[in-house]
Amino acid sequence: SRMKMFVDELPDMPRVQGFDFKNGVPVSKSLTIGMFQKKWKFHRDLPPTTVFAYGTSQKTATVPGPTIEALDNVETSVTWKNHLPSKHILPWDPTIPAAIPKKGVPTVVHLHGGINEPSSDGHSNSWFTAGFKERGPTWTRKKYRYRNAQHPGTLWYHDHAMGLTRVNLLAGLIGAYIVRHPEVEVPLGLPHGDEFDRPLVVFDRSFRTDGSIYMNSTGNNPSIHPQWQPEYFGDAIIVNGKAWPRMTVRRRKYRFRIINASNARFFRFFFSNGLRFIHVGSDSSYLSRPVTTNKLLLAPSEIAHVIIDFSTSTSDVAILANDAPYPYPDGDPTDEINGKVMKFEITGERVVDTSRVPAKLIAYPNPDVSSASTTRYIAMYEYTTPEDEPTHLYLNGKSYDDPATEFPRSGTTEIWNVINLTDDNHPLHVHLGLVAALEQTELVDRDKLTDCMKKENDAIKCQLSKHARGERLTVPAQERGWKNVFKMRPGYVTKILVRFSLIHSNASYPFDATEEPGYVYHCHILDHEDNVMMRPLKLIS
Ligand code: C2O
Ligand code: CU
Repeated sequence: SRMKMFVDELPDMPRVQGFDFKNGVPVSKSLTIGMFQKKWKFHRDLPPTTVFAYGTSQKTATVPGPTIEALDNVETSVTWKNHLPSKHILPWDPTIPAAIPKKGVPTVVHLHGGINEPSSDGHSNSWFTAGFKERGPTWTRKKYRYRNAQHPGTLWYHDHAMGLTRVNLLAGLIGAYIVRHPEVEVPLGLPHGDEFDRPLVVFDRSFRTDGSIYMNSTGNNPSIHPQWQPEYFGDAIIVNGKAWPRMTVRRRKYRFRIINASNARFFRFFFSNGLRFIHVGSDSSYLSRPVTTNKLLLAPSEIAHVIIDFSTSTSDVAILANDAPYPYPDGDPTDEINGKVMKFEITGERVVDTSRVPAKLIAYPNPDVSSASTTRYIAMYEYTTPEDEPTHLYLNGKSYDDPATEFPRSGTTEIWNVINLTDDNHPLHVHLGLVAALEQTELVDRDKLTDCMKKENDAIKCQLSKHARGERLTVPAQERGWKNVFKMRPGYVTKILVRFSLIHSNASYPFDATEEPGYVYHCHILDHEDNVMMRPLKLIS
């Protein structure tokens, strides 16, 4: 039985304020947020689904979890408490490097896009089970400190347990987090307030008819990995916890913070009636100027911060649709089911709308290549069986357990040349780092380069520069500037600047970024990250 589209109202997740007021002045706040097993209704006609959900209590826990709202420079601390049962609701695979406790579901929370010290960053090996009974090898503390001393913008929090990230997110452990900086944001005049500024957390899931989440329990190479498969794709599209929801909007501007929380699905959003996206920010920061597009391509974990002006709509209905092939870019085309996302119904007369989209937004320091102290090469590989079935993916030919090879100096900027030798686009996410893409250059004689790289693992020796002489692409305007994840195009070398520091006026750390266990960087296709397109990243002073 197929679920009817556009019958459930788009929910707004509960909002949790990450600060208090004392004598009218904002001060830091301590939150406790739990992870609970509970039932969640993804659709009117689907029986309740057992999920793992974040919330301030089991009763109020939601999928996605509450939207945490923080203030620039006001610390929010969160004690993340695992209340999950002894057994996971989904299958997973002990043959990939994974947290394997005696009992219980290992979890650890990462604030994606947060600029925080390693002990509060949610390192994969800092996992813990219910009641902190069992703890991973790098676990240090119960209470995480989020400094919020960073650009205003949209972040999200999600699980990051070693080898279980794909499973724990699939179960529901995701949520939005907003850092606000009223002094610089309010004067912009963009749509604001709970009604007109809404996170949209989008992901795909498959369900059995009894409502349970479907995840394969057999892998594509069971003799190597009994359960792991290279990409999870679900056939239902979920926004804020409802399958293909609908939202009634007025004839005015709205602001949406669209978070792609899928395991592996890229979305290329567009409106059925030609409405356009006015980009005002990307995943880490505002853009310096708005950029208008018809389509919006979001890889897993990417965030688009957009304004939609429904007063310009030529019809009363706007379907948000998706035409990104899966896997991206060379996979299957979307269909009538996964090609639809949600429906907007535009009602009433044109209303007075005092919000605006100014020509100038927020200007941050421009990416400056000459500031880079080090150049690195990061190669992406896929390994397959002789039948061409993927078995695992690596960065620089190394597993996660191989010793760290990247030791950036805290406060510096580096050039990373990311060489994608696979057929898929991989969104590369660098913890702590702010990423600015400079250019993408097509590789020629790719097989030769791949053979050499697999043998020598040395981009200079393998004459990368001789191979990097194909088509050269400029970075799309809405993806220029500071992000925390960038899409690495297959068959191209992408040059990015990575800044391991704040871009605040006082560009120094309020904390020690060099402490153990350090950070990680990884592909944000979760099935890749888990097996094991993730590497340690240790800062030095
Ligand atoms: Cu969004 Cu390392 O994660
Ligand atoms: Cu990947």
